[in-house]
Amino acid sequence: MDRISIVGGKPLNGSLAISGAKNAALPLMIASLLTSERLTLKNVPNLADVNTLARILRNHGVDLAVDGKRSEPSPYLGETFHLTARDIVDTTAPYEMVARMRASFWVLGPLLARCGEARVSMPGGCAIGTRPVDLHLMAMKALGAEIDIDGGYVVARAPHGLKGARITFPKVSVGATHSALMAASLAKGETLIENAAREPEIGDVAECLTKMGARIEGIGTSTLRVAGASRLEGAVHTVLPDRIETGTYAFAVAAAGGDVELRGARKSLLDTALITLEKTGVAIAETPHGIRVSRNGRDLEPITIETQPYPGFPTDLQAQLMALMTRAKGTSTIRETIFENRFMHVQELARLGADIQLQGDTATIRGVKSLRGAQVMATDLRASVSLVIAGLMAEGRTTINRVYHLDRGFERLEQKLSGCGAEIERLVSG
Ligand code: EPZ
Repeated sequence: MDRISIVGGKPLNGSLAISGAKNAALPLMIASLLTSERLTLKNVPNLADVNTLARILRNHGVDLAVDGKRSEPSPYLGETFHLTARDIVDTTAPYEMVARMRASFWVLGPLLARCGEARVSMPGGCAIGTRPVDLHLMAMKALGAEIDIDGGYVVARAPHGLKGARITFPKVSVGATHSALMAASLAKGETLIENAAREPEIGDVAECLTKMGARIEGIGTSTLRVAGASRLEGAVHTVLPDRIETGTYAFAVAAAGGDVELRGARKSLLDTALITLEKTGVAIAETPHGIRVSRNGRDLEPITIETQPYPGFPTDLQAQLMALMTRAKGTSTIRETIFENRFMHVQELARLGADIQLQGDTATIRGVKSLRGAQVMATDLRASVSLVIAGLMAEGRTTINRVYHLDRGFERLEQKLSGCGAEIERLVSG
Protein backbone atom coordinates (compact mmCIF):
# COMPACT_ATOMS: atom_id res chain seq x y z
CA MET A 1 0.00 0.00 0.00
CA ASP A 2 1.36 3.40 -1.00
CA ARG A 3 2.17 6.04 1.56
CA ILE A 4 2.59 9.79 1.35
CA SER A 5 5.44 11.51 3.06
CA ILE A 6 5.41 15.22 3.84
CA VAL A 7 8.02 17.42 5.43
CA GLY A 8 6.11 20.39 6.82
CA GLY A 9 6.95 24.03 7.15
CA LYS A 10 7.31 24.97 3.48
CA PRO A 11 5.02 27.73 2.17
CA LEU A 12 3.01 27.17 -1.01
CA ASN A 13 3.49 29.55 -3.90
CA GLY A 14 2.59 29.57 -7.58
CA SER A 15 -0.47 28.03 -9.16
CA LEU A 16 -2.23 24.72 -9.52
CA ALA A 17 -5.10 23.48 -11.67
CA ILE A 18 -8.45 22.40 -10.26
CA SER A 19 -9.91 19.22 -11.75
CA GLY A 20 -13.46 18.36 -12.74
CA ALA A 21 -15.75 17.55 -9.80
CA LYS A 22 -15.79 13.92 -8.72
CA ASN A 23 -19.28 14.27 -7.29
CA ALA A 24 -20.63 15.57 -10.59
CA ALA A 25 -18.64 13.21 -12.82
CA LEU A 26 -20.04 10.14 -11.05
CA PRO A 27 -23.78 10.90 -11.49
CA LEU A 28 -23.12 12.27 -14.98
CA MET A 29 -21.54 8.97 -15.95
CA ILE A 30 -24.55 7.17 -14.46
CA ALA A 31 -26.88 9.36 -16.54
CA SER A 32 -25.47 7.62 -19.63
CA LEU A 33 -27.71 4.67 -18.69
CA LEU A 34 -30.75 6.79 -19.57
CA THR A 35 -30.09 6.87 -23.32
CA SER A 36 -29.04 4.53 -26.09
CA GLU A 37 -27.15 7.42 -27.67
CA ARG A 38 -23.67 8.67 -26.92
CA LEU A 39 -23.08 10.90 -23.89
CA THR A 40 -19.78 12.75 -24.09
CA LEU A 41 -18.39 14.11 -20.85
CA LYS A 42 -15.42 16.48 -20.88
CA ASN A 43 -13.16 17.41 -17.98
CA VAL A 44 -13.60 14.04 -16.21
CA PRO A 45 -11.03 13.74 -13.40
CA ASN A 46 -8.71 10.75 -13.36
CA LEU A 47 -9.67 9.18 -10.02
CA ALA A 48 -10.04 5.74 -8.51
CA ASP A 49 -13.80 6.30 -7.97
CA VAL A 50 -14.29 7.23 -11.61
CA ASN A 51 -12.47 4.07 -12.68
CA THR A 52 -14.53 1.94 -10.30
CA LEU A 53 -17.76 3.37 -11.67
CA ALA A 54 -16.53 2.84 -15.24
CA ARG A 55 -16.18 -0.88 -14.45
CA ILE A 56 -19.67 -1.00 -12.95
CA LEU A 57 -21.22 0.74 -15.95
CA ARG A 58 -19.41 -1.58 -18.39
CA ASN A 59 -21.02 -4.44 -16.51
CA HIS A 60 -24.44 -2.98 -17.36
CA GLY A 61 -23.43 -2.77 -21.02
CA VAL A 62 -22.08 0.76 -21.31
CA ASP A 63 -19.40 1.17 -23.94
CA LEU A 64 -16.79 3.63 -22.66
CA ALA A 65 -14.14 5.19 -24.87
CA VAL A 66 -11.66 7.65 -23.47
CA ASP A 67 -10.30 10.42 -25.68
CA GLY A 68 -6.99 12.06 -25.39
CA LYS A 69 -5.18 9.17 -23.70
CA ARG A 70 -1.82 10.66 -22.99
CA SER A 71 1.42 9.18 -21.91
CA GLU A 72 1.84 12.10 -19.52
CA PRO A 73 -1.40 13.30 -17.96
CA SER A 74 -2.06 16.92 -18.78
CA PRO A 75 -2.06 19.16 -15.72
CA TYR A 76 -4.73 21.36 -17.25
CA LEU A 77 -7.46 19.24 -18.74
CA GLY A 78 -9.43 16.27 -17.62
CA GLU A 79 -10.24 13.37 -19.86
CA THR A 80 -13.10 13.13 -22.33
CA PHE A 81 -15.36 10.11 -21.86
CA HIS A 82 -17.73 8.84 -24.53
CA LEU A 83 -20.34 6.64 -22.90
CA THR A 84 -22.86 4.68 -24.97
CA ALA A 85 -25.44 2.43 -23.34
CA ARG A 86 -26.91 1.16 -26.61
CA ASP A 87 -28.28 -1.98 -24.90
CA ILE A 88 -28.46 -2.59 -21.18
CA VAL A 89 -27.22 -6.15 -20.91
CA ASP A 90 -27.51 -6.57 -17.16
CA THR A 91 -29.78 -4.73 -14.70
CA THR A 92 -28.02 -6.13 -11.63
CA ALA A 93 -25.41 -4.11 -9.75
CA PRO A 94 -23.67 -6.75 -7.64
CA TYR A 95 -22.54 -6.47 -4.04
CA GLU A 96 -18.82 -6.70 -4.86
CA MET A 97 -19.12 -3.55 -6.97
CA VAL A 98 -21.59 -1.44 -4.97
CA ALA A 99 -19.72 -2.18 -1.73
CA ARG A 100 -16.63 -0.51 -3.20
CA MET A 101 -18.33 2.76 -3.88
CA ARG A 102 -21.60 3.96 -2.46
CA ALA A 103 -22.53 6.26 -5.34
CA SER A 104 -22.84 3.21 -7.59
CA PHE A 105 -26.18 2.57 -5.83
CA TRP A 106 -27.45 5.53 -7.84
CA VAL A 107 -27.72 3.33 -10.97
CA LEU A 108 -31.04 2.16 -9.48
CA GLY A 109 -33.14 5.08 -10.80
CA PRO A 110 -31.82 5.16 -14.38
CA LEU A 111 -31.94 1.35 -14.78
CA LEU A 112 -35.48 1.26 -13.47
CA ALA A 113 -36.58 4.14 -15.67
CA ARG A 114 -35.02 2.71 -18.81
CA CYS A 115 -35.55 -1.06 -18.35
CA GLY A 116 -38.47 -1.26 -15.92
CA GLU A 117 -36.39 -3.28 -13.50
CA ALA A 118 -33.20 -3.14 -11.47
CA ARG A 119 -31.51 -5.26 -8.85
CA VAL A 120 -28.97 -3.25 -6.94
CA SER A 121 -27.03 -4.32 -3.87
CA MET A 122 -27.69 -2.30 -0.72
CA PRO A 123 -24.50 -0.31 -0.11
CA GLY A 124 -24.29 -1.00 3.62
CA GLY A 125 -22.60 1.28 6.13
CA CYS A 126 -19.36 3.06 5.56
CA ALA A 127 -16.66 4.77 7.53
CA ILE A 128 -18.53 8.05 7.95
CA GLY A 129 -21.84 6.65 9.21
CA THR A 130 -24.75 4.33 8.57
CA ARG A 131 -25.89 6.14 5.40
CA PRO A 132 -29.28 4.56 4.68
CA VAL A 133 -31.01 4.53 1.25
CA ASP A 134 -34.62 4.94 2.41
CA LEU A 135 -35.01 8.29 0.63
CA HIS A 136 -33.89 6.77 -2.69
CA LEU A 137 -36.46 4.00 -2.26
CA MET A 138 -39.14 6.49 -1.24
CA ALA A 139 -38.56 8.40 -4.47
CA MET A 140 -38.70 5.28 -6.64
CA LYS A 141 -41.92 4.13 -4.90
CA ALA A 142 -43.48 7.54 -5.45
CA LEU A 143 -42.69 7.18 -9.15
CA GLY A 144 -44.60 3.90 -9.18
CA ALA A 145 -41.93 1.26 -8.61
CA GLU A 146 -42.50 -1.83 -6.52
CA ILE A 147 -39.59 -2.42 -4.18
CA ASP A 148 -38.51 -5.61 -2.42
CA ILE A 149 -35.41 -6.33 -0.42
CA ASP A 150 -34.06 -9.75 -1.23
CA GLY A 151 -30.75 -11.20 -0.12
CA GLY A 152 -29.23 -7.79 0.53
CA TYR A 153 -30.46 -6.47 -2.82
CA VAL A 154 -33.01 -3.83 -3.65
CA VAL A 155 -35.22 -5.39 -6.30
CA ALA A 156 -37.21 -2.70 -8.07
CA ARG A 157 -39.84 -3.23 -10.76
CA ALA A 158 -41.93 -0.91 -12.86
CA PRO A 159 -43.06 -3.10 -15.77
CA HIS A 160 -45.23 -0.35 -17.26
CA GLY A 161 -42.65 2.38 -16.72
CA LEU A 162 -42.33 5.09 -14.09
CA LYS A 163 -44.98 7.79 -13.71
CA GLY A 164 -44.42 11.39 -12.70
CA ALA A 165 -45.30 12.15 -9.08
CA ARG A 166 -44.82 14.59 -6.25
CA ILE A 167 -41.77 13.68 -4.14
CA THR A 168 -41.30 15.61 -0.92
CA PHE A 169 -38.09 14.63 0.80
CA PRO A 170 -38.27 14.78 4.60
CA LYS A 171 -34.52 15.40 4.69
CA VAL A 172 -32.10 16.89 2.16
CA SER A 173 -30.15 14.17 0.36
CA VAL A 174 -27.75 14.70 -2.52
CA GLY A 175 -27.92 11.11 -3.73
CA ALA A 176 -31.69 10.75 -3.43
CA THR A 177 -32.14 14.00 -5.36
CA HIS A 178 -29.86 12.66 -8.12
CA SER A 179 -31.84 9.39 -8.16
CA ALA A 180 -35.20 11.12 -8.32
CA LEU A 181 -34.07 13.60 -10.97
CA MET A 182 -32.60 10.97 -13.27
CA ALA A 183 -35.56 8.60 -12.92
CA ALA A 184 -38.11 11.41 -13.37
CA SER A 185 -36.40 12.50 -16.61
CA LEU A 186 -37.61 9.26 -18.23
CA ALA A 187 -40.92 8.95 -16.34
CA LYS A 188 -44.31 9.60 -17.96
CA GLY A 189 -45.59 13.04 -17.07
CA GLU A 190 -44.47 15.64 -14.60
CA THR A 191 -42.57 15.14 -11.35
CA LEU A 192 -42.26 17.69 -8.60
CA ILE A 193 -39.25 17.20 -6.31
CA GLU A 194 -39.55 19.22 -3.10
CA ASN A 195 -36.82 19.80 -0.52
CA ALA A 196 -34.31 18.79 -3.20
CA ALA A 197 -30.61 19.15 -2.45
CA ARG A 198 -29.16 22.30 -4.08
CA GLU A 199 -25.55 21.20 -4.42
CA PRO A 200 -24.00 22.61 -7.63
CA GLU A 201 -23.30 19.05 -8.81
CA ILE A 202 -27.07 18.46 -8.96
CA GLY A 203 -27.42 21.56 -11.11
CA ASP A 204 -24.66 20.23 -13.35
CA VAL A 205 -26.47 16.91 -13.81
CA ALA A 206 -29.79 18.72 -14.37
CA GLU A 207 -28.16 20.80 -17.10
CA CYS A 208 -26.82 17.69 -18.77
CA LEU A 209 -30.24 15.99 -18.56
CA THR A 210 -31.74 19.10 -20.16
CA LYS A 211 -29.29 18.76 -23.06
CA MET A 212 -30.40 15.13 -23.30
CA GLY A 213 -34.02 16.23 -23.76
CA ALA A 214 -35.52 16.41 -20.25
CA ARG A 215 -37.33 19.61 -19.29
CA ILE A 216 -36.33 20.72 -15.81
CA GLU A 217 -37.40 23.90 -14.05
CA GLY A 218 -35.99 25.24 -10.81
CA ILE A 219 -32.38 24.18 -11.33
CA GLY A 220 -30.33 25.41 -8.37
CA THR A 221 -33.40 25.67 -6.11
CA SER A 222 -34.95 23.20 -3.67
CA THR A 223 -38.01 22.63 -5.90
CA LEU A 224 -37.39 20.86 -9.18
CA ARG A 225 -40.15 20.38 -11.74
CA VAL A 226 -39.30 17.70 -14.28
CA ALA A 227 -41.27 16.98 -17.44
CA GLY A 228 -40.25 13.45 -18.32
CA ALA A 229 -39.36 12.49 -21.89
CA SER A 230 -40.28 9.19 -23.56
CA ARG A 231 -36.67 8.89 -24.66
CA LEU A 232 -33.53 10.86 -24.00
CA GLU A 233 -30.81 11.69 -26.49
CA GLY A 234 -27.06 11.89 -26.51
CA ALA A 235 -25.33 15.10 -25.44
CA VAL A 236 -21.96 16.73 -24.84
CA HIS A 237 -21.33 18.14 -21.39
CA THR A 238 -18.34 19.54 -19.48
CA VAL A 239 -18.02 18.57 -15.80
CA LEU A 240 -17.95 21.63 -13.54
CA PRO A 241 -14.82 22.37 -11.41
CA ASP A 242 -14.45 20.50 -8.13
CA ARG A 243 -15.47 22.87 -5.32
CA ILE A 244 -14.25 20.47 -2.63
CA GLU A 245 -10.84 20.13 -4.23
CA THR A 246 -10.78 23.93 -4.56
CA GLY A 247 -11.62 24.37 -0.88
CA THR A 248 -9.09 21.76 0.13
CA TYR A 249 -6.22 23.51 -1.64
CA ALA A 250 -7.41 26.90 -0.37
CA PHE A 251 -7.21 25.47 3.17
CA ALA A 252 -3.81 23.97 2.39
CA VAL A 253 -2.45 27.39 1.37
CA ALA A 254 -3.97 28.87 4.51
CA ALA A 255 -2.24 26.18 6.54
CA ALA A 256 1.19 26.34 4.95
CA GLY A 257 1.17 30.09 4.23
CA GLY A 258 2.06 31.53 0.83
CA ASP A 259 0.21 32.69 -2.24
CA VAL A 260 -1.37 30.36 -4.79
CA GLU A 261 -3.70 30.76 -7.75
CA LEU A 262 -6.21 27.91 -8.07
CA ARG A 263 -6.69 27.86 -11.82
CA GLY A 264 -10.09 26.85 -13.15
CA ALA A 265 -11.70 27.25 -9.71
CA ARG A 266 -15.10 28.96 -9.56
CA LYS A 267 -15.59 31.10 -6.48
CA SER A 268 -19.39 31.11 -6.66
CA LEU A 269 -19.43 27.33 -6.05
CA LEU A 270 -18.01 27.65 -2.54
CA ASP A 271 -18.84 31.07 -1.17
CA THR A 272 -19.58 29.87 2.38
CA ALA A 273 -16.30 27.99 2.68
CA LEU A 274 -14.29 30.91 1.30
CA ILE A 275 -16.05 33.44 3.54
CA THR A 276 -15.21 31.15 6.48
CA LEU A 277 -11.60 31.07 5.38
CA GLU A 278 -11.51 34.85 5.08
CA LYS A 279 -12.77 35.10 8.67
CA THR A 280 -9.71 33.15 9.77
CA GLY A 281 -7.54 35.89 8.28
CA VAL A 282 -6.78 34.47 4.83
CA ALA A 283 -7.02 36.68 1.73
CA ILE A 284 -9.12 35.43 -1.20
CA ALA A 285 -9.41 37.17 -4.54
CA GLU A 286 -11.00 36.26 -7.84
CA THR A 287 -8.61 36.30 -10.81
CA PRO A 288 -9.35 36.01 -14.54
CA HIS A 289 -8.43 32.32 -14.33
CA GLY A 290 -9.71 31.27 -10.93
CA ILE A 291 -9.12 32.18 -7.31
CA ARG A 292 -6.05 33.45 -5.51
CA VAL A 293 -5.51 32.46 -1.90
CA SER A 294 -2.83 34.02 0.27
CA ARG A 295 -1.69 34.13 3.86
CA ASN A 296 1.59 35.74 4.64
CA GLY A 297 2.61 35.64 8.26
CA ARG A 298 -0.77 36.43 9.80
CA ASP A 299 -2.09 34.35 12.68
CA LEU A 300 -5.15 32.22 12.01
CA GLU A 301 -8.29 33.34 13.85
CA PRO A 302 -10.48 30.63 15.40
CA ILE A 303 -13.94 29.93 13.99
CA THR A 304 -17.32 28.53 15.06
CA ILE A 305 -19.27 26.76 12.36
CA GLU A 306 -21.58 23.87 11.58
CA THR A 307 -21.85 21.81 8.42
CA GLN A 308 -25.05 22.22 6.40
CA PRO A 309 -26.41 21.16 3.03
CA TYR A 310 -25.49 23.56 0.21
CA PRO A 311 -25.20 26.56 0.31
CA GLY A 312 -24.02 26.01 3.90
CA PHE A 313 -20.53 24.97 4.94
CA PRO A 314 -19.94 21.54 3.29
CA THR A 315 -19.37 18.41 5.33
CA ASP A 316 -16.79 17.45 2.71
CA LEU A 317 -14.59 20.33 3.94
CA GLN A 318 -15.15 19.80 7.66
CA ALA A 319 -12.02 17.70 8.26
CA GLN A 320 -9.84 20.12 6.29
CA LEU A 321 -11.12 23.12 8.29
CA MET A 322 -10.49 21.22 11.51
CA ALA A 323 -6.89 20.52 10.50
CA LEU A 324 -6.38 24.22 9.85
CA MET A 325 -7.93 25.27 13.16
CA THR A 326 -5.51 23.08 15.13
CA ARG A 327 -3.05 25.97 14.69
CA ALA A 328 -5.49 28.87 15.18
CA LYS A 329 -4.90 31.47 17.87
CA GLY A 330 -7.76 30.40 20.11
CA THR A 331 -10.56 27.86 20.38
CA SER A 332 -12.76 26.82 17.45
CA THR A 333 -15.99 24.84 17.46
CA ILE A 334 -17.11 22.68 14.56
CA ARG A 335 -20.46 20.87 14.58
CA GLU A 336 -21.07 18.10 12.05
CA THR A 337 -24.78 17.91 11.25
CA ILE A 338 -24.79 15.74 8.09
CA PHE A 339 -23.04 12.51 9.05
CA GLU A 340 -22.98 11.06 12.56
CA ASN A 341 -19.49 9.62 12.47
CA ARG A 342 -17.38 11.91 10.39
CA PHE A 343 -14.69 12.59 12.98
CA MET A 344 -12.19 9.84 12.32
CA HIS A 345 -9.50 12.36 11.53
CA VAL A 346 -9.65 13.61 15.13
CA GLN A 347 -7.58 10.83 16.64
CA GLU A 348 -5.07 11.01 13.77
CA LEU A 349 -4.71 14.80 14.13
CA ALA A 350 -4.11 14.17 17.84
CA ARG A 351 -1.08 12.05 16.85
CA LEU A 352 0.44 15.23 15.42
CA GLY A 353 -0.21 17.09 18.68
CA ALA A 354 -3.62 18.65 17.97
CA ASP A 355 -5.84 19.44 20.97
CA ILE A 356 -9.39 18.39 20.01
CA GLN A 357 -12.24 17.39 22.31
CA LEU A 358 -15.23 15.57 20.86
CA GLN A 359 -18.66 15.71 22.40
CA GLY A 360 -21.45 14.17 20.36
CA ASP A 361 -21.58 15.96 17.04
CA THR A 362 -19.32 18.82 18.12
CA ALA A 363 -15.55 19.17 18.12
CA THR A 364 -13.79 21.80 20.19
CA ILE A 365 -10.37 22.60 18.80
CA ARG A 366 -7.86 24.50 20.92
CA GLY A 367 -5.18 25.95 18.71
CA VAL A 368 -1.67 24.76 19.58
CA LYS A 369 1.66 26.51 18.94
CA SER A 370 3.00 23.70 16.77
CA LEU A 371 2.24 20.28 15.33
CA ARG A 372 4.89 17.59 15.08
CA GLY A 373 5.16 15.12 12.19
CA ALA A 374 4.15 11.49 12.88
CA GLN A 375 2.87 8.33 11.23
CA VAL A 376 -0.87 8.58 10.63
CA MET A 377 -3.57 6.53 8.94
CA ALA A 378 -5.89 7.67 6.18
CA THR A 379 -9.46 6.59 7.02
CA ASP A 380 -11.82 8.15 4.49
CA LEU A 381 -11.30 10.47 1.59
CA ARG A 382 -11.71 13.87 3.24
CA ALA A 383 -10.20 12.75 6.56
CA SER A 384 -7.09 11.69 4.64
CA VAL A 385 -6.61 15.03 3.00
CA SER A 386 -7.00 16.78 6.35
CA LEU A 387 -3.89 14.88 7.41
CA VAL A 388 -2.06 16.22 4.36
CA ILE A 389 -3.02 19.74 5.43
CA ALA A 390 -1.86 19.06 8.98
CA GLY A 391 1.36 17.53 7.62
CA LEU A 392 2.09 20.72 5.67
CA MET A 393 1.95 22.67 8.95
CA ALA A 394 3.77 20.17 11.13
CA GLU A 395 7.43 20.27 12.06
CA GLY A 396 9.35 17.36 10.57
CA ARG A 397 8.03 14.39 8.62
CA THR A 398 4.46 13.11 8.50
CA THR A 399 3.82 9.77 6.80
CA ILE A 400 0.26 8.99 5.78
CA ASN A 401 -0.57 5.31 5.40
CA ARG A 402 -3.38 3.81 3.30
CA VAL A 403 -3.45 6.60 0.75
CA TYR A 404 -5.80 4.71 -1.54
CA HIS A 405 -8.51 6.71 0.22
CA LEU A 406 -6.93 9.89 -1.16
CA ASP A 407 -6.70 8.47 -4.67
CA ARG A 408 -10.48 8.03 -4.69
CA GLY A 409 -10.98 11.77 -4.86
CA PHE A 410 -7.77 13.73 -5.42
CA GLU A 411 -6.05 13.67 -8.77
CA ARG A 412 -2.24 13.99 -8.70
CA LEU A 413 -2.31 15.53 -5.24
CA GLU A 414 1.45 15.20 -4.65
CA GLN A 415 2.29 16.76 -8.01
CA LYS A 416 -0.11 19.65 -7.52
CA LEU A 417 1.29 20.46 -4.07
CA SER A 418 4.95 19.86 -4.86
CA GLY A 419 4.54 22.12 -7.92
CA CYS A 420 3.82 24.91 -5.40
CA GLY A 421 6.82 24.16 -3.22
CA ALA A 422 5.56 21.52 -0.77
CA GLU A 423 7.98 18.77 0.20
CA ILE A 424 5.69 15.84 -0.47
CA GLU A 425 6.23 12.50 -2.15
CA ARG A 426 4.51 9.18 -2.68
CA LEU A 427 6.29 6.15 -1.35
CA VAL A 428 5.19 3.35 -3.66
CA SER A 429 4.95 0.00 -1.93
CA GLY A 430 6.45 -3.20 -3.23
C1 EPZ B 1 -23.07 12.95 -1.27
O1 EPZ B 1 -23.27 11.71 -0.60
C2 EPZ B 1 -21.61 13.05 -1.60
N1 EPZ B 1 -21.23 11.95 -2.48
C3 EPZ B 1 -20.78 13.02 -0.32
O2 EPZ B 1 -19.43 13.20 -0.66
C4 EPZ B 1 -21.22 14.19 0.58
O3 EPZ B 1 -20.53 14.12 1.80
C5 EPZ B 1 -22.72 14.11 0.82
O4 EPZ B 1 -23.44 14.05 -0.44
C6 EPZ B 1 -23.26 15.30 1.60
O5 EPZ B 1 -22.94 16.48 0.93
C7 EPZ B 1 -21.32 12.07 -3.79
O6 EPZ B 1 -21.79 13.08 -4.31
C8 EPZ B 1 -20.82 10.97 -4.63
P1 EPZ B 1 -26.64 12.43 1.25
P2 EPZ B 1 -24.71 11.13 -0.37
O7 EPZ B 1 -27.61 11.47 0.70
O8 EPZ B 1 -25.57 11.52 -1.52
C9 EPZ B 1 -28.94 10.78 5.06
C10 EPZ B 1 -17.12 12.69 -0.57
O9 EPZ B 1 -16.26 12.71 0.33
N2 EPZ B 1 -29.69 9.90 4.13
O10 EPZ B 1 -26.80 13.87 0.90
O11 EPZ B 1 -24.58 9.72 -0.05
C11 EPZ B 1 -27.47 10.42 5.17
O12 EPZ B 1 -27.28 9.35 6.06
C12 EPZ B 1 -18.51 12.16 -0.32
O13 EPZ B 1 -16.92 13.08 -1.73
C13 EPZ B 1 -30.79 9.21 4.61
O14 EPZ B 1 -31.15 9.29 5.78
O15 EPZ B 1 -25.17 11.94 0.92
C14 EPZ B 1 -26.86 11.72 5.62
O16 EPZ B 1 -27.05 11.87 6.99
C15 EPZ B 1 -18.65 11.43 0.95
N3 EPZ B 1 -31.46 8.39 3.74
C16 EPZ B 1 -27.71 12.77 4.91
O17 EPZ B 1 -28.92 12.09 4.53
C17 EPZ B 1 -31.10 8.27 2.43
O18 EPZ B 1 -31.77 7.51 1.69
C18 EPZ B 1 -27.09 13.36 3.66
O19 EPZ B 1 -26.62 12.30 2.82
C19 EPZ B 1 -30.00 9.00 1.96
C20 EPZ B 1 -29.31 9.82 2.83
